[in-house]
Amino acid sequence: MKNFTAVSDVENLQEIIKKALQIKENPLSDPEKGKGKTIGLVFLNSSLRTRLSSQIAAQNLGLNVLVLNAAQEAWNLEYADGTVMDGNTVEHIKDAIEVLNQYCDIIAVRCFAGMKDKEDDINESILSQFLKHAKVPVVSLESATRHPLQSLADCITITENRKSDKKPKVVLTWAPHIKPIAHAVGNSFAEWMQEMDVDFVITNPEGYDLDKKFTKDTPVIHDQEEALKDADFIYVKNWSSFDEYAAMPEVKESWMLTNEKLAGTNNGKVMHCLPVRRNLELSDEVIDGDHSIIYQQAKNRIFSAQVVFSEILDEIKSGK
Ligand code: CP
Repeated sequence: MKNFTAVSDVENLQEIIKKALQIKENPLSDPEKGKGKTIGLVFLNSSLRTRLSSQIAAQNLGLNVLVLNAAQEAWNLEYADGTVMDGNTVEHIKDAIEVLNQYCDIIAVRCFAGMKDKEDDINESILSQFLKHAKVPVVSLESATRHPLQSLADCITITENRKSDKKPKVVLTWAPHIKPIAHAVGNSFAEWMQEMDVDFVITNPEGYDLDKKFTKDTPVIHDQEEALKDADFIYVKNWSSFDEYAAMPEVKESWMLTNEKLAGTNNGKVMHCLPVRRNLELSDEVIDGDHSIIYQQAKNRIFSAQVVFSEILDEIKSGK
C-alpha cells in the first residue's frame, strides 16, 4: 500500500479486515516494526478519535509520532498557487509539505471540506496538494470527500457483529442536524459497503441524496421506515444537501432514530462514527441501549489505523 486515501488503495478488503482482527487479538505483536521511522499526524481540523487512535496504533508499531495541530499551533497556511502572500497567510502549503518530507517517513493529514466552494471540495483541494508534494506515503485522516480509516473500522465492526453467513442488510440513514455537515463519512461508507458482502441501502429525505459518484447504483429510499425494515446494521449520520451545497439544513426531527423505529429492524445494531449530538442526531435511548455498537466501532479505529500503518511500513521496507 503506497498511500491510503480511499477504498481503491486496498488490494484485498477481506484480507485487510482479517489482518486488523488479528492485530486486535494482540496489538503489541510487532512492537519494533516501525522502529527508527516517524509518522507525522497533521490536523487541520479538530479530532478526538482519529488523533488518539492513530497515535495508539503508531505507538503499538514502535513508530515515532509527531502530532501537529496545525490549525491552532502552526503558521496560517496559504493554499493558492502564485499568490502574493501579503495578507494573513504566512506559510505556503508546498513549503510546509516539503519540510514534513524532511522529518517524516509517513505523512497523515486531516483536511475537511471547507463547505464554501463545491468544486474545491469535490477536487480535494488540500489532500491533492499533499499527494502532489509529499515524497513519502500519505494517509488520509479524513479529507473533503472521504474518511477511509473510519470506513475500514466500520467494516471491521460489521464483520465482528455478523450473526451468520447470511448476507446482512446494512442501512445508512440520514439524521437531523442544525449545521451544514460535510459528506465525507456518508460518501466513504457507501464506497466501502459496495466492496463488502452486504445488502446496502441508503435512506435520506428528498433533496439530501449524496453525490452519485459515491453511491453509484446503491438504492436510495426516501421512506426511512421502509428502508429500516429487517435491517441488521443501521449506520446513522447527517450530511447536508449536495445539490444545494452548504445550504443550512431543514432540521427534520422526525428522522432521528428511536427504539420505536428499531422495532421494525432485525434486532439491528446501531452505528455512528462520533461525535454525535445527542437527542438531535440520535436519541439517548438508542446510544445507551442494547442495540448500540458505537463504542466498539470507536475502539476499532485503533486497529484500522494500525493495519494501514503496518501495510505502509511493509511497502517502505520492500523499497518499492
Ligand atoms: N469519527 C471521527 O473521525 O472522530 P474524530 O473527528 O473525533 O476524529
